[in-house]
Amino acid sequence: MAENNQNAMAGSAPAKPKPAVPGAAKQAAPVAAKPADSKSGVYKPPVERADPNPYKDSRISSIGAWFQERFYVMVPVIDYLKKKEVPKHRLSFWYYFGGLTLFFFLIQIITGLLLMQYYKPTEAEAFSSFVFIQKEISFGWLIRQLHAWSANLMVLMAFTHMFSTFFMKSYRKPRELMWVSGFVLLVLCLGFGFTGYLLPWNELAFFATQVGTEVPKVAPGGAFLVDILRGGEEVSGETLTRMFSLHVVLLPGLLMLVLSAHLLLVQVLGTSAPIGYKESGLIKGYEKFFPTFLAKDAIGWIIGFGLLVYLATVFPWQIGVKADALTPAPLGIKPEWYFWAQFQLLKDLKFEGGELVAIALLTIGAIVWVLVPFLDFKASREERSPIFTAIGLLVMAFLLINTYRVFAEYGW
Ligand code: HEM
Repeated sequence: MAENNQNAMAGSAPAKPKPAVPGAAKQAAPVAAKPADSKSGVYKPPVERADPNPYKDSRISSIGAWFQERFYVMVPVIDYLKKKEVPKHRLSFWYYFGGLTLFFFLIQIITGLLLMQYYKPTEAEAFSSFVFIQKEISFGWLIRQLHAWSANLMVLMAFTHMFSTFFMKSYRKPRELMWVSGFVLLVLCLGFGFTGYLLPWNELAFFATQVGTEVPKVAPGGAFLVDILRGGEEVSGETLTRMFSLHVVLLPGLLMLVLSAHLLLVQVLGTSAPIGYKESGLIKGYEKFFPTFLAKDAIGWIIGFGLLVYLATVFPWQIGVKADALTPAPLGIKPEWYFWAQFQLLKDLKFEGGELVAIALLTIGAIVWVLVPFLDFKASREERSPIFTAIGLLVMAFLLINTYRVFAEYGW
C-alpha cells in the first residue's frame, strides 16, 4: 500500500515535479508493487523498491534534506503552496480577516492552556480560583484579560470575515463548502463564548446562563436539551462542569477539525475575486501567497496583537461577585454582546408563543443563511446577484440595529 502511494506521489507531483535537482534525471523508474500472493492472500512487499524520494538531490541544507527524505510526500504540497497567488484589487483588504480570526483563535489556545493550570471547575472553587489567577499569579491578570478580550475579538473578526466573504460572493462555486464549514466555525465560536461565560462563576454569568439555557425549553425537544446542558433542572455546579468540558475539550476538538477542512479548502481552491473583476480588468495583478501575502497577514497579526494588549491592559474585565443561586437575579441581566440581536428579538416578541416564533425565525434564518451558496444560482454562474446582496444587508442591519438597541437600554 505504502509502495503504491509512493508511486502515486512520484507520478502525481504537480505537472512535472520541477527537479531543482541536478540528479533528477537519475530518478529510479517506479517499480510496480507485486500483487498479493494469490494463494495465501498475504501481501508481500516487492523486493526491489522504487526511489522513495524523487527530490532527494535538491540543493538544500543537509537538515532540510533529512526532513525532505522523510516527508517527501509534502514536497508537491509545498510546491503547490509556492505557486498559490492572491488577486490584488480594491477589496483585497477584506482578505485579512480570516487570518485575523485564526490569530485570535491561536491566542485563545495559548492563554486558555495557561489559565487551565490554576482554574478549578467546581462550584466551590471556580470563583476563588479566578480571583487567585487575577491577584496572586504573576501576570495571571494579563493572561486572563488577554483570553477574555481575544475571545471578543475572535468573534468580531469571524463576523467581519463572514460578511466580507458574503458581499464578495466568495461562497459561489466551487467554494460552497468553505462557506458551510465557515458557518460551522462561527457557531462553534459562539459556543465558546456561551460556555466560557459561566466559568468565572460570578453573579452576572450565573443568571445570564440561567436565562440563556431557559430559551430552548419552548421548542419541541428543547427541555431535553436544556436538561443535558444544565445537568439537572437548574443551573448548578453540574452545569459548570459541563460547560467546562465543552469549552476545553469538545469545542476545541471540533473547531480544529472543521478549521483544518476550512484551511485546506482555502489552500486547494485558492482565493476568489469578486464577480466580474477579472473581466472588467479590476484585478491589479497577483501576489504570491507565500511569502508576500503571508507577510502582510503577519502585519495584520501584529496590529491585532497591539490592539489586544491595549484593550487587555486599559479596559480590564471585572470579576464581579460570586454567584449565589439563593439571591434574587440582579436587574439588567443580559448575555454577551454577540447574542444581543437574538436577545432583543426574544424581548420584542413578548406575546403568547412569541419565544417559539423567535426561535423558529432564527433557526429558519440560519438554515437559509448556510444554504446561500446553493440558492444564489446567479453568483454560481458568475453573474451579479443584487437580491442576495440585499439579503446580506438586511441580515447585517438586523444584527447591528438590535445590538445597538440592547446597548442603548442596558449599556455595556
Ligand atoms: C474560526 C473562524 C474562521 C477562521 C479561522 C477562518 C479562516 C479563514 C482564512 C484564513 C481564510 C483565507 C483568507 C481570507 O479569505 O480571509 C478564509 C477564507 C474563507 N472563509 Fe473563513 N474562517 C473562519 C470563519 C468563517 C465564516 C464564519 C465564514 C462564513 C460563514 C467563512 C467563509 C470563508 C470563505 C467563503 C472563504 C474564501 C474566501 C475567498 O476565497 O475569497 N469563514 N477563512
